[in-house]
Amino acid sequence: MNKGHLPAPTLQTTLQQTREETGLPMGELRILMCHATGLNKVGLVSQSHAELPMDQLSNFKALAARRQAGEPIAYLVEQKEFYSRPFFVDHRVLIPRPETEELVEHALVFLQKRASENLLTRVLDIGTGSGAIAITLALENPILEISATDISADALWVAQHNASALGAKNIRFIQADLFNGLLNQTPPLAFDRICSNPPSIENNDPHLSQGDLRFEPPHALTDQGDGLRFYRAIAQHSPSLLRAGGGVIVEHGHTQQAAVMACFKQAPFKHVQGLPDLAGTPRFVYAHL
Ligand SMILES: C[S@@+](CC[C@H](N)C(=O)[O-])C[C@H]1O[C@@H](n2cnc3c(N)ncnc32)[C@H](O)[C@@H]1O
Repeated sequence: MNKGHLPAPTLQTTLQQTREETGLPMGELRILMCHATGLNKVGLVSQSHAELPMDQLSNFKALAARRQAGEPIAYLVEQKEFYSRPFFVDHRVLIPRPETEELVEHALVFLQKRASENLLTRVLDIGTGSGAIAITLALENPILEISATDISADALWVAQHNASALGAKNIRFIQADLFNGLLNQTPPLAFDRICSNPPSIENNDPHLSQGDLRFEPPHALTDQGDGLRFYRAIAQHSPSLLRAGGGVIVEHGHTQQAAVMACFKQAPFKHVQGLPDLAGTPRFVYAHL
C-alpha cells in the first residue's frame, strides 16, 4: 500500500478504533453512530464496510468525546423513550425516568374510571419538563383536558414541541411558578387530578455533582432547600384547585415517602397513601379529598 493513502475509514473500522481509544461500550458507540449517520441498527450492519463521510465521522467523534466526558446518551441523541414513545430531550429538560411511567399508570387507572362514565375530566401536571407525564396522559386518554405548567419557558418550548410531534392536542401549556396565577381565577380552575414529579433533591446533596445529574438543569433537580418545598406547596394549595373527590399524585425521592405523606396528612385530604415503584422502592404519594 502507498504511504499517504491510508484506507478510508468505514463505519466498522471507526467503531472499533473509537472503542479502543475511548473504552466506551460498543452498544453505546453504535447508538451514537446511528445518530451521526442517520442509519438504523440494521443499516449499520449492512453498511458496515461503507466509507464514512468526513462530516459524519467528525460528528460521531464529537459525540463519542462528549459521552466519554459523561454526558447522558439521551442528550447526545436528543431522544428518550417514555411509555414507548420517542420524546425529544436536550439540556433544557430533565431526562424522563422509567419510574415516572408508573406515576402515569396510577393516574390513568383513576382517570379511566371517570372516562368510562363519560365525565369531563381535567388534569394538571405541575413542572412538566419534556411534557412526558402530560403528553402521555393526553395520548392515552384523548378526552382528558390537560393543563401543564413549568417555570421554565425553555422547558415549555420542549414540551410543546413534543406535544405537536407526538400529536397530543388536548393540552394547554402555562408558564407558572408553582401555583402563581393559577389560584383565584374566574371562573376558578378545577381539576380531578393533579400530578407532579417536582424537583426533590436537597440543595447540598452530593449526587447533584455526580453522573447524569451534572448535565441536567439544576432547577429541575433541586428545590434549593430540604427537598420538600414543592410537596408542602402542593399539599397546601392543591385543595383549592381540586374538584370534590379529586386527588393528587406526586413522585418523590427514595428516602422521602414518610415526609411527603406527612405534608398531605392534613385537612381537607381524607386519604393519603404511599406507593412503591416496580423495584419496591417507596416512590409515590397519592392523596385525595
Ligand atoms: C423533576 S423535573 C420533572 C419533569 C417531568 N415532569 C418529568 O417527570 O420528567 C421538575 C420540573 O419542574 C420545573 N420547575 C422547577 N421549579 C418550578 C416552579 N417553581 N414552578 C413550576 N415548575 C417548576 C422544572 O423546570 C422541571 O421541568
